[in-house]
Amino acid sequence: MASAAYDIVDHAFDVVVVGAGGAGLRATLGMAEQGLKTACVTKVFPTRSHTVAAQGGIAASLKNMGPDHWQWHMYDTIKGSDWLGDNDAMEYLAREAPAAVYELEHYGVPFSRTEDGRIYQRPFGGHMQNFGDGPPVQRTCAAADRTGHAILHTLYGQSLRNNAEFFIEYFAIDLLMSPDGACEGIVAWKLDDGTLHRFRAKLVVLATGGYGRTYFSATSAHTCTGDGNGMVARAGLPLQDMEFVQFHPTGIYGAGCLITEGARGEGGYLTNSEGERFMERYAPNAKDLASRDVVSRCMTLEIREGRGVGANKDHIFLNLDHLDPKILAERLPGISESAKIFAGVDLTREPIPVIPTAHYNMGGIPTNYHGEALNPDRGGADAVIPGLMAVGEAGSASVHGANRLGSNSLIDLVVFGRAAAIRAGAVVDRAAPVPSTGEVALERIVDRFDRLRHANGGAPTAELRDRMQRAMQEDAAVFRTAETLQQGVRRISEIWRDLKDVHVTDRSMIWNSDLVETLELENLMANALTTVVSAEARTESRGAHAREDFPNRDDENWRKHSLAWIEPNGDVRLGNRPVHTDPLTTQAEGGIDLKKIAPKARVY
Ligand code: FUM
Repeated sequence: MASAAYDIVDHAFDVVVVGAGGAGLRATLGMAEQGLKTACVTKVFPTRSHTVAAQGGIAASLKNMGPDHWQWHMYDTIKGSDWLGDNDAMEYLAREAPAAVYELEHYGVPFSRTEDGRIYQRPFGGHMQNFGDGPPVQRTCAAADRTGHAILHTLYGQSLRNNAEFFIEYFAIDLLMSPDGACEGIVAWKLDDGTLHRFRAKLVVLATGGYGRTYFSATSAHTCTGDGNGMVARAGLPLQDMEFVQFHPTGIYGAGCLITEGARGEGGYLTNSEGERFMERYAPNAKDLASRDVVSRCMTLEIREGRGVGANKDHIFLNLDHLDPKILAERLPGISESAKIFAGVDLTREPIPVIPTAHYNMGGIPTNYHGEALNPDRGGADAVIPGLMAVGEAGSASVHGANRLGSNSLIDLVVFGRAAAIRAGAVVDRAAPVPSTGEVALERIVDRFDRLRHANGGAPTAELRDRMQRAMQEDAAVFRTAETLQQGVRRISEIWRDLKDVHVTDRSMIWNSDLVETLELENLMANALTTVVSAEARTESRGAHAREDFPNRDDENWRKHSLAWIEPNGDVRLGNRPVHTDPLTTQAEGGIDLKKIAPKARVY
């Protein structure tokens, strides 16, 4: 029994939230406010979670800067998703967004202000007035270009105020699943003293973020290793729509750091080697504020056709030097600093070298709009997994479908973090005992941990990770073909096999970053494998999934969510779920006109 070799500390909670980014903290706060005994388990200090890096803002139709309507926001989100998002979830998002933002304001988020004291809102890509007809709408609420930072600090403070318990620098290893498929808790490793912890819970909420670090160049923090998705895959549960990986148009060339879309929202524009504002050619209406999958593809085409800038003609310029330096200092202070530090550029005088960079994962753990995780294997496309929820980038509700609009991520975090808490308040029986998980599940988890801790093969973790990142960068990029994707499946499957031969050098239990990175690599690989296999199978182009060999969207065969299960032998089993085409409310009840949201060509 591997567990005999470890100190195991037991805990019992109503709810355990894993992850302390925007979604995890909003869920934690909502649970704690209702008096549920709530633990938040996080591998990094809460205010270092990746939400801290979110820059440009949070979308909500507040109408502070001009006309707007929640139905316009819903329409833009549906169009942005390339008609793959679930209409019930997208209605919930757009309708709840204003209240969720005002709630943040009342919690204390220091939003930037208009002259008359209202929350400042800027334009962002794909957000338009009049059901997409335009002009661009100012819908993105901002705290300068540090909106995520402001939200994260506020939510952490409020969670503490409501007596949520934090378990900080605990690495969640795996889900405790009962023999009949219910989630009953997690096992985590306390990094600073080497103890293992069994958290038993009536409900586990995975808020573990995305898996940007499967790619070589990503705007995501190094901690974005898709840990919740990895845990779900190891538990034999499905991941959804993994082929849809968003590339942000403006990562700094070379460094990958984000330059917010807010820069274009404030009037910045892209140019090629001929000094041409090429987006005017591709998207005559929205121009530089077209949806980001569109802008990323246009930039890639410009580079491919020889109009990239720089010695190797392999990137594009983002111009801001025509803007008033006072505006830059007030509204974009963060990127002014990033441009200086990471590109050596004074953006009041020179353009910033940028390139499309892996940024966001639309796919993840399938959920309904309450955040409850789904597994069609339990019977029915929308069958709920008892005891398990997923929110934020780890979840797939699905409000982003095949492509997310900028600033719809922060609003997703708070709307669905809050929705999960509301649901938990309704379904968690406070009087019931906390499930007493069997020893078998614990033993399986500790066995795997112990095997990796003592792994003595020939392939160091860093070498396998490097191979994975290069394969994803080359084979599952902005443009894809059967050839690149088949090569991706081959390369990632080989690395999957080679994981058995991993070598961990450090055997200690305290601050063993070698072992942390190995656990993270196994999680990353579950994400990488399901991404390339799902992408190879989807023979159409939709949103961020651009197949050169299948350039058109194929609603007849592919307006459905992909599901991917990793079998114990490493094979990926594919399936699908229907898209929810019914919104939450009918037009007679004040909902959107169905004719407005019927699929059509997506032009900006
Ligand atoms: O460009 C940005 O500020 C990123 C925002 C987002 O991904 O929502």
